[in-house]
Amino acid sequence: MSELTVRHAEAAPLPDVDLSTSLGGVTFPNPVFTASGCAAAGQELDQFFDITALGGVVTKSIMLAPRSGRPTPRMAETPSGMLNSIGLQGPGIEAFLEHDLAWLADRGARAVVSIAGGSVEDYAKLAMKLRGRPGLAMVEVNISCPNVEDRGQVFACDPGAAAAVVQAVRRNTDTRIPVFAKLSPDVTDIAMIARSCVNAGADGLSVINTLLGMVIDTATMRPVLGGVTGGLSGPAIRPVAVRCVWQVHQALPDVPILGMGGIRTGLDALEFVLAGASAVSVGTTVFGDPTAPVRVLHELAHALAQRGFGRLEDAIGLAHRPPEIYVPEEPDPVGDDQLPLVRQPVGFEEER
Ligand code: FUM
Repeated sequence: MSELTVRHAEAAPLPDVDLSTSLGGVTFPNPVFTASGCAAAGQELDQFFDITALGGVVTKSIMLAPRSGRPTPRMAETPSGMLNSIGLQGPGIEAFLEHDLAWLADRGARAVVSIAGGSVEDYAKLAMKLRGRPGLAMVEVNISCPNVEDRGQVFACDPGAAAAVVQAVRRNTDTRIPVFAKLSPDVTDIAMIARSCVNAGADGLSVINTLLGMVIDTATMRPVLGGVTGGLSGPAIRPVAVRCVWQVHQALPDVPILGMGGIRTGLDALEFVLAGASAVSVGTTVFGDPTAPVRVLHELAHALAQRGFGRLEDAIGLAHRPPEIYVPEEPDPVGDDQLPLVRQPVGFEEER
């Protein structure tokens, strides 16, 4: 078997911006995380860059028992995106704790453990298993995986079911560990689901999971994916994700958001921050560029510095501010100076 040899990316200095961010009472050194399901437990990415440089590593959702997932094919390319129907494949919580979380703790990474279950009781048991584990920085409750046989298990589509899961996890998790609920965009009113999760004890929200999608092969005239439907991710969903972050922040401005959906560059990340995210997860793009999370971190820091921000915190939700109104100093000779003018913010022309 040949060994994969890759070059560890050089760590360039970051500009002088305070990138620290507070998520549910825990301060992370910076706001760029991996996204669940796109980086396993971080070991492969650590060959390309030092994963401890990230704010945190969000692990692939883990279930109680080992699970083989859905039938193949499980991936399909789509315009500006990707469709997956993995079906929560994983080794089960015991093996995860022994190998993956232990490795993350030894490595000194901040682990955000994503958990998924088929019932409220499953989630409660998973939360109990995580209690007191070294390296655990946060729990992400995946209530929104679209790749389950029973749509009734997409707890995030129902405010009562979502709340029941979140409450069970919060009750069984160390109080100092934040619990974030991961929301689905496939709902009529995401702010209503968000509120329900927060009322049930969520310290923050991960926004968003993939959108339910489907591709049909016109040669075979059958669905491409073995599981028929899958979750759509990548740049194609970014405007949907930004809209969801915006709506959730507008409804719950004091609740921290971990924003995700098609982030490829620092400017993409900045868009999420301006919409209201306190941190971001970089996901699908790592399949083409494994160094993307650390690159996005550097690009975001530079984008903030270029715009005059000394702290990330000051940019969070800034796009929600009202338009600036001003009255011109000189009277307008044509006499229509009664109309308030909207001053456009200074534009930036960088390439994405
Ligand atoms: O199918 C999967 O394992 C995907 C999970 C998710 O999108 O939450």
